[in-house]
Amino acid sequence: MKGLILSGGAGTRLRPITHTSAKQLVPVANKPILFYGIEDMAEAGITEIGIVIAPTTGDEIREAVGDGSQFGVSITWIPQDEPLGLAHCVLIASEFLGDEEFVMYLGDNMLEQGLSGFVKRFQQSRSDTMALALDGPQLDRPSAQILLAEVDNPSAFGVAEIGPDDEVVQLVEKPEVPPSNLALVGIYLFDSSIHDAVSAIEPSPRGELEITDAIQWLIDSGRRVCHEVLDGWWIDTGKKDPLLECNRLVLDTLKLVVDGEIDEKSRVEGRVVIESGAKLVNSTVRGPAVIGAGSLITDSHIGPYSSIAVDCVIAGSEIDNSVILRRATITNIPRLTDSLVGRDTVIVRGDTRPRATRVMIGDHCNIEIE
Ligand code: G1P
Repeated sequence: MKGLILSGGAGTRLRPITHTSAKQLVPVANKPILFYGIEDMAEAGITEIGIVIAPTTGDEIREAVGDGSQFGVSITWIPQDEPLGLAHCVLIASEFLGDEEFVMYLGDNMLEQGLSGFVKRFQQSRSDTMALALDGPQLDRPSAQILLAEVDNPSAFGVAEIGPDDEVVQLVEKPEVPPSNLALVGIYLFDSSIHDAVSAIEPSPRGELEITDAIQWLIDSGRRVCHEVLDGWWIDTGKKDPLLECNRLVLDTLKLVVDGEIDEKSRVEGRVVIESGAKLVNSTVRGPAVIGAGSLITDSHIGPYSSIAVDCVIAGSEIDNSVILRRATITNIPRLTDSLVGRDTVIVRGDTRPRATRVMIGDHCNIEIE
């Protein structure tokens, strides 16, 4: 089985961060979101992975992932010139995929349960149906397996309708009137029949070749599509609040590791990771939280669910429930919460008179002042 990770897309819902960086490289607990997907594939025994990249962010993703050896996998890069849809990604990856079964994974999705069980059950039901065809009830060999999750806002996703016999009967992309509350999670298993499907469908009203429509095409042409409803959490991290939620969930799994320096006036409480080369001076860090290598925290309190990336400088400030990207400087900010702060950003409480808020901020920023 091969893996296909989709890491193109403009990331408009995570602007301004995505003006300068790929959404798949935004860190969760100081590790790029994309790495969790690659690691899940490696753990499921999938070592040949194709990654679809966009012209704007492709180079940055290639540089971060390298040749895949850091994950024990080999990577084939598949450039997509325009974001023409998830099914279009399968179309342009056809040479890499050949006739093999594959798992397709949206590079900004994260799920708790890993891939191994999902992959194993697909392979099992394909080999069982081969065996059963000889004697026993006649069930078609599944061509695809989808993963579903119950959500409160199904209209924001692809939605599945399950029939009385527990088979998938209908899939619709972002319906105004959803047939159920079961959203398609961005992780799919396919056999080679998906190649016919992605060649047969037409672009949707948003101008994209939808994978949802390709799977519907499989159903309409009499193929069997299995489904599972997800157990643990799943997050499409493409917006700030889901990203912070994902950061909380991953930080909750941390174990205490202190490799950095903590002076005698500083304290760490709970599950905290202080990476090597990080330094705490007269500060407290209350976990779960992670402080990246080379970051300097002075006279500050870093509260639960904070991820401070590498080479940040935090002074005289209190931060919680936030993701701070690398080389940010935060000085004399009494309380920063529920925030996502981009690379090389400076947030400082100054003492220039007259007292005022002075900013130089990029496009599509979102700032809430206390
Ligand atoms: C895509 C799929 C949608 C799926 C979602 C999961 O949506 O089109 O069916 O439910 O990913 O994250 P998009 O992120 O392109 O809006």
